[in-house]
Amino acid sequence: MKNVMRAVKITENVYWVGAIDWNIRDFHGYATRRGSTYNAYLVLAEKPTLIDTVKAPFRQEMLARVASVIDPRDIAVIVSNHAEMDHTGSLPEVIREIDPGEIYASPMGVKVLGELFSLDREVKAVRDGETVNLGNRALTCWETRMLHWPDSMFSYLSEDRLLFSQDAFGMHLASSERFDDEIDPAVLAYEAATYYANILMPFSPQVEKLLERVGGLGVEFAIVAPDHGPVWRKDFAGILDSYARWAGRRPSRKAVVAYATMWHSTELMARALAEGLAERGISVKVMSLSENHRSDVAYEVLEAGILAVGSPTLNNNMFPLAADVLTYLKGLRPRTPLGAAFGSYGWSGESVAQIEAILSDMKVELPEESVRVKNVPGVDVLGRCRDLGVLLGDKLLERLQ
Ligand code: FEO
Repeated sequence: MKNVMRAVKITENVYWVGAIDWNIRDFHGYATRRGSTYNAYLVLAEKPTLIDTVKAPFRQEMLARVASVIDPRDIAVIVSNHAEMDHTGSLPEVIREIDPGEIYASPMGVKVLGELFSLDREVKAVRDGETVNLGNRALTCWETRMLHWPDSMFSYLSEDRLLFSQDAFGMHLASSERFDDEIDPAVLAYEAATYYANILMPFSPQVEKLLERVGGLGVEFAIVAPDHGPVWRKDFAGILDSYARWAGRRPSRKAVVAYATMWHSTELMARALAEGLAERGISVKVMSLSENHRSDVAYEVLEAGILAVGSPTLNNNMFPLAADVLTYLKGLRPRTPLGAAFGSYGWSGESVAQIEAILSDMKVELPEESVRVKNVPGVDVLGRCRDLGVLLGDKLLERLQ
């Protein structure tokens, strides 16, 4: 069959040879409504080099794009910047098919690849600051441990001032456009923030250190090529600023009121709480957990100063939707300073204390008294919810001064 797939030229000697996943809607629990891309890059050097590969089902698409430039069997070097399977799932088969002379990964990458796959080839370790010789060119590698896996590393092509940044600075966005300046900036901003919230937020201290290091290099990158979404050639400075802000996890004048509800009692409480917050000028997102995905809640929590979670009690437990989102958020380690638990119950009423326990684990400061109601909230209880919103709003404003 005639090859219809094409590589996309990034610079004179570097091509995008990745795959577009238009259909993926769940990336290990993160709702990817705009799909994704798995980016791989071909560097034309004396030793033609492939940077990363793609998810297993997309191997043929990647190789077809390579074949639009060179014979894939001419690839002499593969560099694996990140071992997660969306970038290495096709690696074992690609190695068998094209038989590259050399394969490189970070020292942790060598270990992780060995644990994930039975590669019948040696993967050589390239340490922090070392270079991979591509013949007439060289690729400098920097370990970026826990960004977001232990093996993660960046690689840098100095002649082109081009940084291959694996997951960092990426986003889940399937598009026919390959560069940032070809895509609506509002879409880029939303998808980059959603990606940061759902993938990188727990590693914010490491992101801060990395940004310091990158700043200290004194290198002005012309192009930053991540493993998902568009290649940055116009506004890398913008995404770098956003990363500095997100990594700092400084709260803004924003609250998230997330709730599950059975017969609308907890919903009424959520709405009353939001009224109190809004009265103090706090921007509030009220999120029904049956209508909002956990990854949308994570996006909203990224810069929020208040997280209030409500749930009825079902069979002595909080509602499963509330347990889902709290488990997810706890793992993402936001630094939301203030919060509250609230909810209704029929007879036993454990949910509020259970939510409080998780919020406390997340180091969220809670009010002395939460609001809990048997059956249906009357005007008095809704007034207490509103007062709670006012109290939380005042506390946040104090902190932001
Ligand atoms: Fe895109 Fe961490 O894999």
